[in-house]
Amino acid sequence: MLQVVKGRMLQAMHKGLSRQTHAQANVRMLPTYICSTPDGTEKGDLLVVELCQSHVRTMWVTLLGDGNQSPQVMYKIFSMPGDIMQGKGEALFDFIAQCVRQFLAGISSPQHHLPLGFVFPFSCRHTRLDKAELISWSKGFSCSDVEGKDIVQLLQSAINKQELYHVDVVALMNDTVGTMMTCSMAGKPCEVALVVGTGTNSCFMAMAQQVEMAEETSGQMCVSTEWGCFGDDGTLSDILTPYDQCVDEESSNPGEKRFEKLVSSLYLGEIVRHVLTALAAEKALFIGSNVAVLRTKDVLKIQQVLEIIDNEEGMAEARRALEALGLRPSERDCCRVQQICQAVVSRAATLCAAGLAAILSHMCQSQELKQLVVNVGVDSELYRGHTRFGEILQSVTGLLAPECMATLLPSIDGTGWGAAMVTAVALRLAAQRHEVDQVLAPLRLSRADLQRVQALMRQEMELGLGWESNANASVRMLPTYVCGTPNGTERGEFLVLDLGGTNFRVLLVRLAEDGIHMASKIYVIPTTITQGSGEALFDHIIECIMDFQLKHNLTEQVLPLGFTFSFPCQQLGLDKAVLLSWTKGFSASGCVGQDVVQLLQEAAQRKQHLGLKVVAVVNDTVGTMMSCGYEDPKCEIGLIVGTGTNACYMEEMQNVGAVEGEQGRMCINMEWGAFGDNGCLDDIFTDFDRLVDEKTINAGKQRFEKLISGMYLGEIVRHILLALVEKRLLFRGKPCPKLHIKGIFQTKFLSAIETDGLALRQVRAILQDLELQASLEDSVLVREVCQTASLRAAQLCAAGLAAVVEKMRKNRGLAQLAVTVGVDGTLYKMHPCFSQHLQQMLRDLAPNCTVTFLQSEDGSGKGAALVAAVACRGAEPWGQPLLPPQ
Ligand code: G6P
Ligand code: BGC
Repeated sequence: MLQVVKGRMLQAMHKGLSRQTHAQANVRMLPTYICSTPDGTEKGDLLVVELCQSHVRTMWVTLLGDGNQSPQVMYKIFSMPGDIMQGKGEALFDFIAQCVRQFLAGISSPQHHLPLGFVFPFSCRHTRLDKAELISWSKGFSCSDVEGKDIVQLLQSAINKQELYHVDVVALMNDTVGTMMTCSMAGKPCEVALVVGTGTNSCFMAMAQQVEMAEETSGQMCVSTEWGCFGDDGTLSDILTPYDQCVDEESSNPGEKRFEKLVSSLYLGEIVRHVLTALAAEKALFIGSNVAVLRTKDVLKIQQVLEIIDNEEGMAEARRALEALGLRPSERDCCRVQQICQAVVSRAATLCAAGLAAILSHMCQSQELKQLVVNVGVDSELYRGHTRFGEILQSVTGLLAPECMATLLPSIDGTGWGAAMVTAVALRLAAQRHEVDQVLAPLRLSRADLQRVQALMRQEMELGLGWESNANASVRMLPTYVCGTPNGTERGEFLVLDLGGTNFRVLLVRLAEDGIHMASKIYVIPTTITQGSGEALFDHIIECIMDFQLKHNLTEQVLPLGFTFSFPCQQLGLDKAVLLSWTKGFSASGCVGQDVVQLLQEAAQRKQHLGLKVVAVVNDTVGTMMSCGYEDPKCEIGLIVGTGTNACYMEEMQNVGAVEGEQGRMCINMEWGAFGDNGCLDDIFTDFDRLVDEKTINAGKQRFEKLISGMYLGEIVRHILLALVEKRLLFRGKPCPKLHIKGIFQTKFLSAIETDGLALRQVRAILQDLELQASLEDSVLVREVCQTASLRAAQLCAAGLAAVVEKMRKNRGLAQLAVTVGVDGTLYKMHPCFSQHLQQMLRDLAPNCTVTFLQSEDGSGKGAALVAAVACRGAEPWGQPLLPPQ
C-alpha cells in the first residue's frame, strides 16, 4: 500500500510540475526561486525573521565567508498575542515589524543596509525570491486581507512604517527551505527537507527545466511541494479511516490538507481521540468510565501521544494522561492506548516515508542517475520527539526507494540559520549576477548595434563595388565571373577539389540526366603543411588527387577539374584566381599574389602528374550557392558559417565597378570575413576579441570572421571563462591550468553545451574532460557564456545578411524580395540554435525580405562541378573583361 501511495505522490508531483496540469494539481510543486545551495563564501550581516506557530523569532546572523560552519548568531523570541492569527493581516505584519524594531533596538546594530530573510511557513506562489503571494492560510492562521497578496510587500511596508529604512526584505522562503539550508553535513549541503510539525511540507532541489511554472531552463531550483494537500482530490480515500474522516470534518478546513491531517502533529492527538472514542463506544476500552471527555476536541496533545509511546515511561504516561481526563483506565486500557498511539504515529512516519521516497526517486530519475546519494534535512517535533518516528522514516524510505541513499539530518536550530543562508546565497547570486552581467554586457548587442553593423556592412559593400574605392575597401566584393545560377542542363563528369573548410576533399562529380552522382574522399592536411611552404601544400594536394584517381580508376582519364578554393582570391577569369591573403590558420608561403591554378599545375609537373585540366576555381560560398541553386532557382546568395565565414550574392552588373558591362548579374564573393579590418567595428570588439585576435597568425585581419566563425568562438569563450575565474565567479576562482591552453575549448563544445535539454551533468562531464571541476552553478554559467558568444555571432551574421538582401531588394526596386540562401558550414549546421537565432534577427532587420535558408547537402563540390560544366560548355558571358585594378 505504501508503494501505491508513493506512486500516487509521484503522479501528483508530475502534475504539479507540468505547466498544463499545474492549476489542477493538489501537490502544487511551487517554485521557490532558490537555485543554489550555500558554498561557504557567503558573508555579511543579515536579519532573519521567522513566523512560527506561537511566536516570532528575530535573528541577527554574521557570516564570515570562511565556510560558515560557525556563524555568529543573536536572536530573540517574541510570543504572539493569541488573537493575532485570526485578526487583520495588517496587524500581524505590524506586530512582526515591531518585533524587528525592538530586536534591533536591543542590539547596537549599525545603520548600514540590512538584508532581511523572512521565513513564512505557508503555501506561497513565488515569481521571484523576493516576490510571493499567499495562496492559502493553514495551521489555524486566517488573517484577513493577506491571501493573494505579496507577503514581501506587506512586511516591507510594515517595516517602513517602523522607519527601519535600512532593513530590506530580500528573500521570502518556506520553512522547509530554511530547514534544507540549515542542515548540511561536512560541506555537503542538503537537497531535500521535510517539516513534520504543526503542519507538514517538503522541498527539494529539482532540475529547473522540469519546473515548468518557472522560466528558468537551466540549473536547479528548489521546489516546495506543499504535499499537505496530497489526497485532496480523493487519491487517498482508500487509506483514510473513519477516524480520519472525523478529524477532517471537525477541522477548520474540511476536505483540505488530507495528507497533513494524517501525519502532522496538529492532528495525531485528534486521530487517537477518535479511535479511543470509537473503541470506548464498542466497550473495548474504559469500561465503567464516563468517556464524555473524549468528545472534547484537542484533549490529547501531541506531546502526550509521544510520551505514551515512549518505551520506558509510556505506560505510566498513558495512565497519567487518561486519569488527567477523568478516566479510570485499566492496565490493559493503558497498553491498548499505547498501541493505538504507536499505530497512529507509525502510520504518520510511513506515510512521510512514502512521500519522501517519491521525491528521492523523482530526483534520481530526473538526474538520470543509477543511484542518488543525498542528505535530507528534517525538522519535526515528531522526529525530535520520538526516535521511533525517525527510524521508521529512515527504514521505510530505504525500502520504498532502494535506488537512493538518503541520510536524514535533524535540524538543530529550526530554520533561522538556514534562512540566513538563503538570504546570503540570494545576495551572493545577485552580486555574482551583477558581476557576470558586467563581464558579458559588451558581448550583448542591442538591435540598434546590429542595425548599425548592417548599415556599416552596406557602406563597405558600396566601397568594395566601387571601381575607385575598391582598393581601400575591407570588404573586397570580388567578381567571380559566375553570371547565372544552374539551369539543370549542365552535364559531364568532373574532378573537384574542396579546400579551405574543416576537411580537404577530392570528389568525382557526374552531372547526368537523372541527377548528380558523387564520390568523394576526405584527406587530412596537417598544420605543418597548411603553415609550411606553398610548394609542399600543392604537392600534398596533387598526391591526394593521385591517390583518389588511383582508388577510382581515373588514372587514364583527364577530367575537367573544378577547384573550390575557399580563400580570398582576385578572379582574373573562371580558371585564374590570384590569392590575396590566407585565412583560417593557413599561411603556406609563396602563395599570396600567385594564381592558385598555376601553383597547382606546377605541383602537378613536379609530381609528373600530366593529366590535370583546371577549368574553374570557385569560392566555397559560390560553390554552395550553385549547389543549392540546382535545387532552388531562387537561390542567389551563398553563405558559409564554418571554420571561417563569408557570403556571396548575385549583384547587378551595372553595380560591379571592376567589371565592364551593364546587363545581367554577376556573383560577387564579398569576403565579408575582413569586414571591420579598417576599424569600423572597433566599438563592437571586446577585450576578449582582442585577446583572440592577438593570438592568431593574422592579427588585425578577418575581424568580422573572428567574431563569428567556428575557428574562433571556442577561443572567445575560453577567454571569457578565464576572466570569470579571475573574478572568482567561476570554479570558485580556482586556477584552471588547462583553460590557459589555446584552442582547448573547442567550438563543438559550445554546440554540445547549448543543446536544449542537455542535462547539466553532461555539461559538467565536458568540463571534467578539461579538468575543470564544475558545480551545477558553474555549468549553468558556462552554458550562459557559450549562449552569449554564439548568439552574438548569429546576430552579427544576420546583420551582414540583412545588408545583402536589402541591397538586392533595392537593386531590383522591389517592395518585397523573396530569395533563397544556400548555406553550409559546420557551425551553421551543427550548432543547436545558431541558424534559428540568425534567421530570427534577419527577419527583424530586413522585414521586407522573405529569406529561405537551404542547407547544402553535399557541400560546394557539386557547385564547383556545375560551374566547371558551364565553363566547359564555353557559354557566354564568361568573356567579360576585368577592368584593370586602380
Ligand atoms: C562544406 C563545403 C566547403 C566549405 C565548408 C565550410 O564542407 O563543401 O567548401 O568550405 O563547408 O564549412 P566548414 O565548417 O567545413 O569550414
Ligand atoms: C575565406 C573565404 C571563405 C570563408 C568560408 C574565409 O576565411 O576568406 O574565402 O569563403 O572563409 O570558408
